[in-house]
Amino acid sequence: MPQTVKGVIARGKGSPVELVEINVPKPGPGEARVRVQACGVCHTDLHYREGGINDDFPFLLGHEAAGVVESIGDNVTNVKPGDFVVLNWRAVCGNCRSCLRGKPQLCFSTFNATQKMTLTDGTPLAPALGIGAFAEMTLVAAGQCTLVNPLASPAVAGLLGCGVMAGIGASMLTGEVQRGSSVAVFGCGGVGNAAIAGARLAGATTIVAVDLDDRKLEWARQFGATHTVNARNTEPVAAVQAATNGLGADVCIEAVGHPEVLRQAFYARDLAGTVVQVGVPTPDMVMPNIPMIDFFGRGGAMKPSWYGDCLPSRDFPLLVDLHLQGRLPLEDFVTETIGLSEIEQAFHRMERGEVLRSVVLL
Ligand SMILES: NC(=O)c1ccc[n+]([C@@H]2O[C@H](COP(=O)([O-])OP(=O)(O)OC[C@H]3O[C@@H](n4cnc5c(N)ncnc54)[C@H](O)[C@@H]3O)[C@@H](O)[C@H]2O)c1
Ligand SMILES: [Zn+2]
Ligand SMILES: [Zn+2]
Repeated sequence: MPQTVKGVIARGKGSPVELVEINVPKPGPGEARVRVQACGVCHTDLHYREGGINDDFPFLLGHEAAGVVESIGDNVTNVKPGDFVVLNWRAVCGNCRSCLRGKPQLCFSTFNATQKMTLTDGTPLAPALGIGAFAEMTLVAAGQCTLVNPLASPAVAGLLGCGVMAGIGASMLTGEVQRGSSVAVFGCGGVGNAAIAGARLAGATTIVAVDLDDRKLEWARQFGATHTVNARNTEPVAAVQAATNGLGADVCIEAVGHPEVLRQAFYARDLAGTVVQVGVPTPDMVMPNIPMIDFFGRGGAMKPSWYGDCLPSRDFPLLVDLHLQGRLPLEDFVTETIGLSEIEQAFHRMERGEVLRSVVLL
């Protein structure tokens, strides 16, 4: 039987989100239905609502979630009803070119549930990042369910499902931050501050946080920034150089999604350093106008980072364990907990810079 539950949808570009009834089908082969316990509000949800990702309205928003498996379809072996899981948007296929050469974290053929969740009139919904977890229950591919230690609180564990994992992975996996590295993070929202926490965990000794908002920079200090720069009143490239003996940082992470910030990250880097782009650009943005000789002359690498290049089955349980041991303060990302009816206001608080993460509790 399909279940009728409450969920939050974006009906059209820019219009306020709505809490409506949705139908969640009984899981088919390879699918699982999950009772959502917590789901964080990520900037990517707002990008969907603003039409910045694609035009497949109506969207069922929410994609940073933890919950309990309610039921499973045929041929599901990785989870069973009652399991505590974090939902991931990279269910790896095991068969594509990347999986076959031993890099499932870059899988080119990730998958989602085959059946569609719908409005009660049958209109199909496009779930954000194939998840759609601003809902009491959601339908996903079983491979999108990652088992983690159930001692972790859902509000905290769910954050690993997107932004916090993307940030930690941008530092530790894509950027390959090492003991003694210098790191500069541009944009200190949930993703950027997670990149800072990841840099600290990896042993970086200089961590420069750049933002336009002093509240974000205050949080950045708590997560491990050794220097903070407000780019409203200080030129950030010179400030990163000043914090690194005039050299620039080994790893510069762009966590805003803006060409000018990418340009700053590019020039704030030491020779042979790495620029990581984790902020999501809108389709109209173009690469900054950088002379090719500057690209060539500095060496190093520019790397986009999807989901922090994580492998959920490896990285979610590991990071939950580090959190439970007191080595990764994931709880500090949860600025507030809210109900399903408060997401529109949470978007506004995000835009005003008042929160790192608002987390919906169900
Ligand atoms: N690559 C991925 O897998 C992935 C995953 C999750 C989120 N994201 C993206 O990461 C970005 C950040 O997400 P978030 O949830 O942390 O958003 P957020 O809104 O919480 O944070 C963005 C931060 O950037 C700061 N900022 C804005 N303009 C700036 C500028 N010119 N210079 C310096 N700082 C500036 C803001 O003050 C804010 O603190 C978004 O683009 C989001 O879509 C990417
Ligand atoms: Zn694959
Ligand atoms: Zn997200």
